[in-house]
Amino acid sequence: MKVLVIGATGNLGIRLVAALLTHGHNVVAFVRSSNKLESLLPPSVYRQIEVVQGDATDPVSIKKAILDANCDAVVNTAGLAALAPWGKSELPAIFRAVVDAVRGAGLDRKKPLRAWFLAGLGVLYYPGSESMLSSYIPIFLEHRKNLRLLKSLPPNAIDWSMLCPSTMTPESSDFNVPTKTLQGKLIANAASPPSWKDSWIKYIPWLGKVLLCAMNAGRYETTLEQNAELIASDLESYESRWIGTTVGVIDGSK
Ligand SMILES: NC(=O)c1ccc[n+]([C@@H]2O[C@H](COP(=O)([O-])OP(=O)(O)OC[C@H]3O[C@@H](n4cnc5c(N)ncnc54)[C@H](OP(=O)(O)O)[C@@H]3O)[C@@H](O)[C@H]2O)c1
Repeated sequence: MKVLVIGATGNLGIRLVAALLTHGHNVVAFVRSSNKLESLLPPSVYRQIEVVQGDATDPVSIKKAILDANCDAVVNTAGLAALAPWGKSELPAIFRAVVDAVRGAGLDRKKPLRAWFLAGLGVLYYPGSESMLSSYIPIFLEHRKNLRLLKSLPPNAIDWSMLCPSTMTPESSDFNVPTKTLQGKLIANAASPPSWKDSWIKYIPWLGKVLLCAMNAGRYETTLEQNAELIASDLESYESRWIGTTVGVIDGSK
């Protein structure tokens, strides 16, 4: 596929560029500064991609980038959610702009585009319930608003998926192609976290589920490279079991 990576200079975005090329995709990087991207990537990798400069809060330039380069898919890694429940970041504005642009490009093309968005563990459902994990540990709440926006779209507006990792750490800062992921593949699950560890602790009044969420949270740490690999390999096909859902991930080798 031809994939527009929005936020290609970020921790995940830069690794996604390398992973997408490794999987045989064509990459168009949407960044605020092409000089910054060029300084981060090996010259042999930078030469393989197209670069568009623009601001991710501007739906018009994102849509133009999609249509001009004839992209089949978009991955948004731009913006960083505020940690505190009262915090405000640019992410919701970026998210809305990307959704509007991807939807608009799909309408023009008369075919919805494939798109991956990023959120966090907190928008996944506590297993077996309809409460999100962020109801128990209220952090990074901006992702909830972003998910509501995706869920409010009419059917066939965007073939979206929302990746919901916990903390992602770097394996290396080698962005050569092909990539060499040292860690194993992620185990993924729709809507709730895979391999949740249950415990009697949840029955402690008021605090039980909060404690259990806190105990589980560390188990969901993954690497940036593993998540880049998941998206790049999923985009090898237009069919995906992750369309229209949030996706939780865990490192199966841990
Ligand atoms: N890192 C984690 O552990 C983690 C865990 C769960 C979820 N997430 C989510 O995953 C996503 C990616 O995380 P990350 O660690 O890769 O973030 P990051 O390293 O902070 O990268 C953010 C990227 O967004 C770009 N950006 C910000 N505002 C922009 C704008 N107005 N126009 C264009 N580009 C803009 C930045 O570009 P510049 O280089 O120009 O500043 C940068 O490339 C975020 O949404 C985050 O909330 C991250």
